Amino acid sequence: MDANTVQRVSTAPQRTQPFLSKYEILSLLGKGAFGTAHVVRRRGHKTKYCAKQIHFFTDGTSFDPRRLKMAVNEVKVLSTLTHANIVKYIGAVEEADCMWIITEYVGGGDLHKFISRHRHQGVPIERGVALSFTMQLLRALQYLHSNGVLHRDVKPANIFLNSARDAVQLGDFGLTKVLGEEASTTTVCGTPLYYAPELCASAPYTAAADMWALGCVVFEMLALRHPFDAGAREKTFANILSVKFTPPADVDPLLFGFVQRVLVRDPSQRLTAAQTINFLNGEEVSGLSLAVVNWVRAHVAEPEAQEQVLGLVRGAAAASSASRLFLVQQVLQLTGEDPQFRELLKSEFGG
Ligand SMILES: Nc1ncnc2c1ncn2[C@@H]1O[C@H](COP(=O)(O)OP(=O)(O)O)[C@@H](O)[C@H]1O
Ligand SMILES: [Mg+2]
Repeated sequence: MDANTVQRVSTAPQRTQPFLSKYEILSLLGKGAFGTAHVVRRRGHKTKYCAKQIHFFTDGTSFDPRRLKMAVNEVKVLSTLTHANIVKYIGAVEEADCMWIITEYVGGGDLHKFISRHRHQGVPIERGVALSFTMQLLRALQYLHSNGVLHRDVKPANIFLNSARDAVQLGDFGLTKVLGEEASTTTVCGTPLYYAPELCASAPYTAAADMWALGCVVFEMLALRHPFDAGAREKTFANILSVKFTPPADVDPLLFGFVQRVLVRDPSQRLTAAQTINFLNGEEVSGLSLAVVNWVRAHVAEPEAQEQVLGLVRGAAAASSASRLFLVQQVLQLTGEDPQFRELLKSEFGG
């Protein structure tokens, strides 16, 4: 079923409950700002699905047209998307007072719960897991952005873990915006904690704001805390606007390097999803670049290291200028205290 075949039964008496005549509710999955997600099963079938119910009436009495608009928007956008890292749309049923959006059921809980569990247990998220989740989310965002879709609510609670295939999937397309000719939109929405600086200042929203939000998510996976959360909204906004955060104690240089390149105040200076994938994706490139970073760490004090590092950087970064820039910045970060090294890299690769 696609968006055009959403079952419209608005005029039907409420007691007909077309959704419940087809599906049975098995358990409550989670409650978001606008909807309640349930695990459901089609009557007479085994496969489980997720069904999000979005009520159009607040307090059961006053009709809120924004909720109807949001639900229709979510169905419209989600039904056009096909990507391994985006929750799969199954169908939708519109009733007199609510919309049911049916998607695949992603059985491993959401990333918010996953991070909280690690925080409470005091156990860091394994590097490989964080790297893999980051890559998958980058692919989802690259797919959306290249199709002119802005998610606008990227945050751990909207990222679902598919434990069956070690995957993460982006969900909750209620705030999604499809861009036409224009590359930005001015509606401010989403969750304030994940607002990019331009949103705090009510400037237009572009794909770079989704990348900022992803930067916050990756930071959270590394540090098990939010980079800008100061409790009160004003203080959080002040932190965001001045990009003030305390780096995690023991960071992975590759992932933290990414975070530093997206938690950048000026949206035009942030890495795009495609640029980051270019850098992290090619196994050769990412394997080599990681080797460079580790090797520089171990040998930075040795004079003969310089030529070898330059050679590695040249070789590893031959793939694209974005990956070269990213890599050079990583090396510079690690060799910042060594002015000679810095000069050499600068003269070789520029600023
Ligand atoms: N397809 C799904 N698979 C697994 N869990 C889901 C799925 N959809 C939603 N959830 C859970 O339900 C919560 C609320 O769903 P969401 O789509 O984010 O609704 P809202 O718009 O109300 O935030 C999510 O944070 C997540 O924990
Ligand atoms: Mg949500």
